[in-house]
This record gives sequence, structure tokens and C-alpha cells, in this order.
Amino acid sequence: MPPSKRLQFKTPAKINLGLQINKKREDGFHELETLFQMVAWFDDIELEETQEKVELFCDTPGIPNDETNLVVKAARLLQNHFPDKCGGVKIKLKKNIPSGAGLGGGSGNAAGVLLALNHLWNLKIPREELISMASELGSDVPFFLMSPCAIGTGRGEILQPIENPINFYILMIYPGFPISTPWVYGNLKLKLTKAENNISILTNFLTRSEFAQLGAALYNDLEPVVFKRYPEVLKIKDELLNSGAGGALLSGSGSTVFGIFDDAEIAKKALARFTGEKYRVFLAKSVTRFSEFFPEEMISAF
Ligand code: C5P
Repeated sequence: MPPSKRLQFKTPAKINLGLQINKKREDGFHELETLFQMVAWFDDIELEETQEKVELFCDTPGIPNDETNLVVKAARLLQNHFPDKCGGVKIKLKKNIPSGAGLGGGSGNAAGVLLALNHLWNLKIPREELISMASELGSDVPFFLMSPCAIGTGRGEILQPIENPINFYILMIYPGFPISTPWVYGNLKLKLTKAENNISILTNFLTRSEFAQLGAALYNDLEPVVFKRYPEVLKIKDELLNSGAGGALLSGSGSTVFGIFDDAEIAKKALARFTGEKYRVFLAKSVTRFSEFFPEEMISAF
């Protein structure tokens, strides 16, 4: 028997440099505009082709190993769409990115598994179709197959890739507890009047490499809901700004707050200030290309 095929890869975290919520939709989701950026904080995944079963091994406490995990859902999605072409798979997942943190860790895992199984099972699903299937798994999943930086509209799944010329430092502070995304959206009070085109303004600063203006323009409409219920998260944001960050913001629906820095020394000093037992802290750069975490064989047809 030939040796079973294996693939090893990493999947990144994301932050939202801007998040504007426009309205609640009939289907319960919110119409939004966001500027996504991938960050070089990674989970590790290993896949091994098997006969027919989908098995997940993850020894991180609090992460389910069953059908509720997004990586299992990703494998099932492919099996349901292409029952004659899919085999089985053994998935080993090592979590480094905290969950319920607004960093898209689980969404990135699911996107990586879709792409890897497309290769491992020789499905030859075209990129556009795979991205469209990814949206069935969650609003943030398609982004992880699109480009390292992108504008998201709709519920976050309609994407426009953006060239990000600034490779800045991102200091992420996870306060030690998760926050439920449905809870945050459920408690959001939408303002009737909105500033126009916040995301375009933010994107212009980014593409023109105007770091100071970018930092000042970061914004997230979900912050008031989270800061009211979790004042400690606001304290972290204030402390990041006092530590020399060019800007600081809640990522997605939280609970992580990030600060952006263009100076490595200032970023390292800020990291030291937050390091201790209370928080999980991580300093990383923005991701600039898929080859930083996906092996060539996985992305060659992409
Ligand atoms: O798509 P995803 O599974 O990540 O969404 C999780 C929850 O977040 C949804 O059930 C919904 O409560 C909320 N959400 C929303 N509008 C979005 C994205 C997420 O209301 N655009």
C-alpha cells in the first residue's frame, strides 16, 4: 500500500482595523464594512489522508473535538458537496491563538482545512468556488482564502483584496476570558446617523503608508457594547495608547485588544509592560503573503 498523504501547515489570526456596522438584516446577521488584516500569530495543523472517517485530535482545553468544531464542519462540507471524490482524514490541531478572542482563529483553521483537503483529496475546486463554500462555515472564513488584507462587506464574506504596503507591528492582548460574538451583536444599539465611508478613509491611509493617520482612524462600532460590560478591556486599550501605540482597538467582537506600532523597540517595551500571568500577550507583524504559512503545494493551483 502506498504511504498515506500528509500535509502540515499553519493558519494565521486576523484583526479588524476598522469595523462599521450598518444595519440588521432580515436573516439576523448585520450588514457591515470591515478592513481585515492577517497577523503572524499561528495555529498548527497536520492532515493525514485516511479511508473515510473524519477524526480531529486537539488537546487544547475548551476546544471541542467533535462535529461542532469548524475544521470538522469544513471536511463535512466537502464530503457533502463531493461524496464520490472525498476520502477520510485525520486532523491534528494545535491551538496557539485564543478562541472567543475576535482573532478569527477557528475561521482561519476552517479555511486552511478547506484548502488543504482540496489538495489532499484532489478535488480541483476552483478558488472562487472554494471561497464561496467557505462562507457557509462562517462570515470570516472566506477572508482567510482571499488575501492577507481585504475589505469585507455584506456580512463580511464579500471581499475586495487590498495591497497593504506597511508591515507594522501588532501587539495583541487577550484579557484571559472569551466574549460571545452573538452576545455582542445582540446587545448592539445601532446609531441612526453614520459617518460616511469610514472604511475608505482608513484604507486610503493604509495604501498611502500614512501610519500616524491610520492609527488615529482605527475604529470599531462594537467597542461600546464590550467596554460597557467589560471595563477591563477598555483599560487595556487605554494602557496600549499610553505605551506608545500608534492606535489601539478591540478586534472584531473581542475580547482581544490590539495596538499597532511602527517602531520595534517601542513595541517590545509595550509587550514587556503587559507580560505577566494575567493576560496572554503576543507581538507579531502583519502577514504579507500566503507563502508565509501555507506550503507551496497547497497554493500552487490558487
Ligand atoms: O458568521 P459567524 O458564525 O461568525 O457569526 C456568528 C454570530 O455573529 C452570528 O450568529 C450573529 O449573531 C453575529 N454576526 C452578525 N452579523 C455579522 C456577522 C456575525 O450578526 N455580519
